[in-house]
Amino acid sequence: MSKKERLSTEAYKGVRDFYPEEQALLNYLTSVMRSVVERVGYVEYHASVLESAELYRAKGAENEELTNEQTYTFLDRGGREVTLRPEMTPTVARMVAAKRRELGFPLRLYSIPNVFRYERPQKGRLREHWQLNVDLFGSRSLYADAEIIGVAYGIMRAFGAKESDFEIRLGSRNALEKLDMELINREVSSENRKKIRVLLDKKGKMSEGERQKELEQLANGPFEITETADIVEIRRILSDLGVTNATFDPNIVRGFDYYTGMIFEVFDTHPSNNRSLFGGGRYDNLTALFDDEPTPGVGFGMGDVTLRDFLAVRGLTPPYRPPTHVYVAVATPELVGGAWALAAELRQQGVNAALDFGERKLGDQLKTASKHKIPYLIVVGQNEIASSNFAVRNLETGEEKTLAREQLAAFFLNL
Ligand code: HAM
Repeated sequence: MSKKERLSTEAYKGVRDFYPEEQALLNYLTSVMRSVVERVGYVEYHASVLESAELYRAKGAENEELTNEQTYTFLDRGGREVTLRPEMTPTVARMVAAKRRELGFPLRLYSIPNVFRYERPQKGRLREHWQLNVDLFGSRSLYADAEIIGVAYGIMRAFGAKESDFEIRLGSRNALEKLDMELINREVSSENRKKIRVLLDKKGKMSEGERQKELEQLANGPFEITETADIVEIRRILSDLGVTNATFDPNIVRGFDYYTGMIFEVFDTHPSNNRSLFGGGRYDNLTALFDDEPTPGVGFGMGDVTLRDFLAVRGLTPPYRPPTHVYVAVATPELVGGAWALAAELRQQGVNAALDFGERKLGDQLKTASKHKIPYLIVVGQNEIASSNFAVRNLETGEEKTLAREQLAAFFLNL
């Protein structure tokens, strides 16, 4: 094939290939998430990436920017409009509404889906990411709001973050509604009211003096957004839980129309990664899209991209370790059968053993084991097979230990 005809090896723009090291990190992230949410009684659900496009256009579910500019929407072969889910909340609301009578409330659900958004790829923003969704349905209690924020806090701590590493900023849709009323009284146009919300959200992303000036201009004068009673109470419950890094921030807006009460975002406090890591809030009417009797909900979505950056700047990313315990190499090609038998024996006893087929020189076999970061190596040679004694080499330290064939499995499993 000529050079021109060859296909590019690059992944589609804005999405990632997960080679084993990246996949192992994703698995680590999700295993920590799972253990924290399951401790609080959340159970896992799942759904297809394909949803009917109308789900994101419905009044109340909508986020204009997301729906109009950021969805992957296409016609299927039957002429139906299909969207790759850009978020999980409409899906889980649909699922809850569909089985409201059977599900039992309060209902605690979590899922770790991949979601798709046609965004301009940049730091912390890609076109596909994995997103933990934690949602609690059927409760209006402020303890439910506090539980959700407590879970978010618990996940951060479980990754090794200190309280000073992140900040939970609470906002209030009720406070924003109140502001809207005031602005309507001041005859501020709906267009300008929208611009005000966008500007509130820009805190930290532009000069603060300029932002304040523009806000005042748009609002026909200065204004204040004051903390609502529900947020005060949620913060009290959280401080009883020992959470001291939750504050009220009038600039928290969140992009989705469906939020109705408390909203929150978790920020990284690191100077070189000072950004929102994830967020969520209360949405009491979303299931009304499907059902006469709406079920209140509260939850959040936490993406893997921003989380990876958070862990990286703090050195909290664990080093890669493959699941493989040992690499079985072959001194000369004709011994592959003997090595095969040894590997099979080890596997039978629960050891994860990868076998080299002896097609490359021993030095290259060793390099493969090192490239794969496999911690131990056994070289199967004539003498080893004859004596049933094998040298186990630690590939990190170079140390070697000779063990009898029947001692090998215990050695690897007792590590
Ligand atoms: P969201 O703020 O749009 O909320 O997304 C939640 C999180 O997903 C973000 O804070 C970020 O960590 C991650 N994320 C979003 N877009 C991208 C992207 N393009 N690239 C990388 N990461 C991204 C929601 O989606 C709500 N449905 C969350 C929710 C659940 N609210 C209640 N329950």
